[in-house]
Amino acid sequence: MSKKLFKEPRWSYQSMRKELIRFDKLYKLRPIQNNKGGMLYSHMFALYYILRKIKPKFVVESGIYRGQSTWLIEKTLPKSKILSLDLYLNKRTYISKSKNVTYSDKDFKFQNFKSIPKNSLVFFDDHQNSIERIMQSNFFGIEHLVFEDNYSVNDSTEDMYSLKSIFSNSGFVYKFNWRSNLRLLLRFIPYILKKNIFKKYYAYIDSFGWSLRDVPPNKSDSKNLEKKLEYYYEFPPTFKPEFSTVNRPILNSKYRAVFPQAYSEAHSYNNITYLKLK
Ligand SMILES: C[S@@+](CC[C@H](N)C(=O)[O-])C[C@H]1O[C@@H](n2cnc3c(N)ncnc32)[C@H](O)[C@@H]1O
Repeated sequence: MSKKLFKEPRWSYQSMRKELIRFDKLYKLRPIQNNKGGMLYSHMFALYYILRKIKPKFVVESGIYRGQSTWLIEKTLPKSKILSLDLYLNKRTYISKSKNVTYSDKDFKFQNFKSIPKNSLVFFDDHQNSIERIMQSNFFGIEHLVFEDNYSVNDSTEDMYSLKSIFSNSGFVYKFNWRSNLRLLLRFIPYILKKNIFKKYYAYIDSFGWSLRDVPPNKSDSKNLEKKLEYYYEFPPTFKPEFSTVNRPILNSKYRAVFPQAYSEAHSYNNITYLKLK
């Protein structure tokens, strides 16, 4: 199954270069100068560009971490409402003061989306199963989706069932090591204790972390997704990441002196992907 089966939005490299000049100035003002473990230049620009093209009135962000992406969404769309979700809100160092931003520590699937604008967009940077996130978005009537991570199938750092894994029918197997085994065991102990002590203790699988989300190889997910997708677009990197064969970058290395920050963060690119559902 080739992703070329799907339409792509008409976003030209020329218009991306134009937006990049504006974005570069904004990026210098980011609240977290070294956002290790979060988004860096290429993905921040991709999200900025997509938001400016779609102009959603309501944006859901799932996966806040320290808060850099919340800041970006807020600065890019100052009039839009933003719902920012993370199971662990205590990791935030940037906390928005805007009345347009609402925070919640409940998973995306437990939110109330009864009345949301038609062009709402959800941005997933929570490393959860992509096909489940698509099914939930479809149920909520959200058509515009951005997946920050779209791991290649043989990427040893893959920690979730990505869009590429879906299309390769390969499933996903979490790679256990002793440390993750121990972490999982330690997470289960308080769960079992609390379940025994409190009659109304609500626990759900997501809070047990990364290790319980294997998906056996299957062809159904790609077939079902094929039916639902209108657009599939892997946003290009700003500069080519080293040792990578990804999509043509927006800039070639001649521009590295003009965009030094982008060049120095070029390694951080994981095929950020925009989807539009039918
Ligand atoms: C890679 S970080 C997000 C980085 C952030 N978007 C940025 O650019 O700085 C992933 C975050 O997802 C959060 N997370 C894990 N499971 C989640 C869930 N089910 N819903 C929302 N967030 C979740 C983690 O707590 C972590 O803070």
